[in-house]
Amino acid sequence: MTLATIGREVNLSGPAHQAEPDWNTTDYHQPVLLQETLDRLSPRDGGIYLDVTVGEGGHALAILDRSAPGGRVLGIDRDPRSLVRAERRLAHYESRFIPIQGNYSQMAAICRSNGVSQVDGVLMDLGFSSRHIETPGYGFSFQRDEPLDMRYDPQQSLTASEIVNTLEQEELASLIFRFGEEPRSRSVAREIIRSRPVNTTGELAQAVARSMRPARRRIHPATKTFQALRIAVNGELDHLEAGLAEAVDVLAHGGILVVISYHSLEDRLVKNALAREAARCICPPELPECVCGHQPRMRNVTRRVIKPSPEEVRQNPRSRSARMRVAQRL
Ligand SMILES: C[S@@+](CC[C@H](N)C(=O)[O-])C[C@H]1O[C@@H](n2cnc3c(N)ncnc32)[C@H](O)[C@@H]1O
Repeated sequence: MTLATIGREVNLSGPAHQAEPDWNTTDYHQPVLLQETLDRLSPRDGGIYLDVTVGEGGHALAILDRSAPGGRVLGIDRDPRSLVRAERRLAHYESRFIPIQGNYSQMAAICRSNGVSQVDGVLMDLGFSSRHIETPGYGFSFQRDEPLDMRYDPQQSLTASEIVNTLEQEELASLIFRFGEEPRSRSVAREIIRSRPVNTTGELAQAVARSMRPARRRIHPATKTFQALRIAVNGELDHLEAGLAEAVDVLAHGGILVVISYHSLEDRLVKNALAREAARCICPPELPECVCGHQPRMRNVTRRVIKPSPEEVRQNPRSRSARMRVAQRL
């Protein structure tokens, strides 16, 4: 049996633990806003929950514990390497945890092919995990020099290296501006083009740094450019938009959607999508009367975004940018 406390497992026994000792370490991505997620999802015995960004299974583990003995979690992730860790970590939940490699933009089809038509809750904890930054080989971070990759799904062919080495200067500048909100996108793009070929995270970080005047900054000068490339390589905003619509489709009446985002582009998209799903009318404002016939499908549960407590930010500084929004299926 497993005893799980919030985000931390207490000693395990059983086959999973014997087979690979480090499954029981606390060396996992720390789930963000965990208590707040559980409070909103209210997992119950017999419920079916979709954790569509299961990562290393921190949230899923807590949902499984809260919904014992009969609750089930379908855990989806694009990254098969994270999924393997989640699968091993949660093996002792046996058939209550169903790991699936896939994209949350296809969650309805994934549910159907697993014999599930509707679910009681959907959790979307967006972006990358600390594993993606800490493990060599992903190429997400400028903290280590390695091939410029940035794919969650290693089967995908497009990499960050291909983007920086093939786009025209204008296209590259526009990508860095749109997805990184980098005000110096033009000079960054110019310097990247001048530095081609740019094949490693270190080469990219240096090119970005060269494009800016030395200054005291709160964040590394390449932070926004790296964010832009990660979003572009993985098509993150398109998948998020599709994923939010699919979440509404798979939720049972009264089911809860929890979305945790980590930057303003994601949060704005989530806010607008949920506002649209909750609206009685989506006609253009200039029309004198409603002709859309739109039916609201969701109700916003949180009037304001939920942010991590100062205590959580102290314990896990990576949580500081997290913003949670919650809605209920009507
Ligand atoms: C912040 S982490 C989730 C961490 C997880 N809640 C935990 O407690 O370990 C986000 C995860 O979403 C995955 N991901 C990103 N985009 C995805 C997509 N479109 N479909 C499915 N998974 C995705 C990433 O691979 C990553 O593992």
